[in-house]
Amino acid sequence: MIDFLPIPAVIERIDRTMPDHLFDFRLASPLEAAPGQFVELSVPGVGAFPVSTAAFGPDRHLFQACIRRAGKVTSALYRMTEGDEVGLRGPFGNGFPLADFTGRDFLLVAGGLGIAPLRGLLQALLARRERIGEIILLYGAREPETILFREELEDLADAGMLRLSFSVDFSSELPWAADAFICKVGLVTELLKNLRFSPENTVAAVCGPPSLYSCVPEELASLGIAPERIFATLERRMKCGVGECCHCVTAGIYICREGPVFTLEQLRRMENAI
Ligand SMILES: Cc1cc2nc3c(=O)[nH]c(=O)nc-3n(C[C@H](O)[C@H](O)[C@H](O)COP(=O)(O)OP(=O)(O)OC[C@H]3O[C@@H](n4cnc5c(N)ncnc54)[C@H](O)[C@@H]3O)c2cc1C
Ligand code: FES
Repeated sequence: MIDFLPIPAVIERIDRTMPDHLFDFRLASPLEAAPGQFVELSVPGVGAFPVSTAAFGPDRHLFQACIRRAGKVTSALYRMTEGDEVGLRGPFGNGFPLADFTGRDFLLVAGGLGIAPLRGLLQALLARRERIGEIILLYGAREPETILFREELEDLADAGMLRLSFSVDFSSELPWAADAFICKVGLVTELLKNLRFSPENTVAAVCGPPSLYSCVPEELASLGIAPERIFATLERRMKCGVGECCHCVTAGIYICREGPVFTLEQLRRMENAI
C-alpha cells in the first residue's frame, strides 16, 4: 500500500551562497533512500516537485537537497526561510545498484545540477571506501562560479579520496591553481580524452541535462566500459512518482518506477529515451 501522506519537515538551514541553494530539511521521521532515488517535495498551498537526495545526515532525519529555482514551486521554496514547514513523500524510483559492484572502480560524470544526485552516490561510495577501487569524478559546469560543492570536492581530492577534474564551458582563463585537479575549458567530454582508467573494471554513472546523457553513455561504451555497467539517470516531468499519472512514461516504461536510473543496455532498447 502506497502512503501518499508526506513526512512533515522543517527547513533547518538554507545555504544561499550556492548558485543553486542547498536546503537542509529536518524530518519528523527518518527517511531511508538509496542514491539515485528521489522524493516529492511539497510546499503547502503551492504544489510539489521531484528532487534528488544530495546527502543525508547520519540519523536519516536530516535530508539535504540542492535546488534550482525553475518555476512555481521551487520559486515558492526560495521565498521560504529557516523554520518554515514543507513535506516529503517517497523515496521513489530504483537508485544505483551499489551492492552489485564491490571491488570495482567508479567513474562519475556530472553536468551542472547533475552533481546533486551524484554527490549522494559519492557519499555512499565513500562510506564503503574499503570495498571499492578508485573513484574518478568528472564534473562540468557552465562557468567557474556555478561549480557546486567545489570546496567539499577539492577537499576530498586533496585527501586522496577521489580523482577530480573540472570543466567549464566558458572562461577566459582558468581561475584557480590546478595542481591537484585537471581543469579544462570546454564540455565535460573533453575530460574523457586521455583519461587514465581501466574500462574493464569500471562502473560509470552519468547525471546531468539531456545533452549530457544523450551522448556521454555511448562515449563511455566506445572507451570500453560494458553497457550494463554504464548508468544514467533520466529526468522526466514527474507528478505522482508511483506509476499512477503516466506523466513520465517513455517507450512504454514508467520512468518514476522502473528508473530514473537505467543502464545503457536498457536505454538502447528504449526508443526516444535519450
Ligand atoms: C528524478 C528527478 C530528480 C530531480 N532532482 C532535482 C534536484 O535535485 N534539484 C532540482 O533543482 N531539480 C531537480 N529536478 C527537477 C525539478 O523537479 C523540476 O525543475 C521541477 O519542475 C521544478 O518545479 P517548479 O514547479 O519550480 O517548476 P515548473 O513550473 O514545473 O517548471 C519550470 C520550467 O521547467 C520546465 N520543466 C519542468 N520539469 C521539466 C522536466 N522534467 N523536463 C523538462 N522541462 C521541465 C517547465 O516546462 C518549465 O519551463 C528533478 C527532476 C526529476 C524528475
Ligand atoms: S510520475 Fe506519475 S506515473 Fe510516473
